[in-house]
Amino acid sequence: MKSYLIGLIPGDGIGPELIDSAVAVLNAAAAGTFTLDFRWEDGGAGTYLRTGSNLGAGALERIRSMYHATLKGPAGLPGVRSPDGTEAGVLGGVLRRGLDAYANIRPVRSPGAGIDYVLVRENTEGLYASRGCGVGNDWAHSDQLLVTRPGTERIVRKAFELATVRTGAQADGVRRVTCVDKSNVLRSYALFRKIFTEIAAEYPFIEADYLYADAAAYQLIICPGRFDVLVTENFIGDILSDVGAATAGGLGMCPAANIGASAAYFEPAHGSAPALARTDSANPTAQILAAAMLLEFIGEHAGAQAIRTAVDAVVPSANPEAGGALSLTGSLQHLTGQLCRHISRHHASAAPR
Ligand code: IPM
Ligand code: MN
Repeated sequence: MKSYLIGLIPGDGIGPELIDSAVAVLNAAAAGTFTLDFRWEDGGAGTYLRTGSNLGAGALERIRSMYHATLKGPAGLPGVRSPDGTEAGVLGGVLRRGLDAYANIRPVRSPGAGIDYVLVRENTEGLYASRGCGVGNDWAHSDQLLVTRPGTERIVRKAFELATVRTGAQADGVRRVTCVDKSNVLRSYALFRKIFTEIAAEYPFIEADYLYADAAAYQLIICPGRFDVLVTENFIGDILSDVGAATAGGLGMCPAANIGASAAYFEPAHGSAPALARTDSANPTAQILAAAMLLEFIGEHAGAQAIRTAVDAVVPSANPEAGGALSLTGSLQHLTGQLCRHISRHHASAAPR
């Protein structure tokens, strides 16, 4: 039986209980077909408080070269700050840039609402590239927008490759990649758009589409069914993925994959919600869908599909109070049990494996 080595970074707040839930679901999906050998890694604000570093010693190297993939919980705590006043322990910078995991793939899906698109967020440059330099007491002009040709080419290609293999699930059936920028104001975004147009020409069977970020935020709410794949700079992608989550059942529903040429890790798109920790009421769906993306990445497609089918069947879909709420109306443990049982039944009724 095939066996995979999987890193686990529980993170902070609700992170550990979400990872426990996802591990139970992963084991249910693997049962009888493959095995997952989990290795725990330290990381996040708790780790920062204990050790002064965001990530345990040697973890980055193990994630890069030892594990087939890594599942990470949300990390960071509002009160935990680096000396420069930004949040310590959020791990975005250390993992995304440390692993050169340049593609942040964020599916937004709500079948009942006709929403099924993927936001492809550049993950290593943009407005996030220069954090931490050039700040005085009463001024800061430290955060410059970095757009490079190689960085943009590879993320735009990733978006078109994704559009090529997707089944064209949006309402009008047209395969389309939408470039979201603010090129009417900022030169860096104009370069991003120019490179997008060049790469788009390599994919004549996919529609190249353009929106300014403000208009995209509006359209994502008014008309989400028109979107297939979107590609954006880092900061715009951060904001739009929360906009998307608000229309698709809330933050608790949206996973993220961080993918580079030689390493990948998977996480929920939301934060660590410390107030919800240990209340047995956090929504594990985003974490579990991140686990399904992990299985997809390592090539265990049937296991990934079993998880998604269970989520569609068991998790109450569009939460009318969406808008960011991460809490379930029921129990996290109970929902995890329901998902595991659904997956086991699905296995039992499937063709011999
Ligand atoms: C995300 C998060 C992170 C980001 C934070 C925690 C640094 O909001 O993954 O979307 O801004 O990238
Ligand atoms: Mn975010």
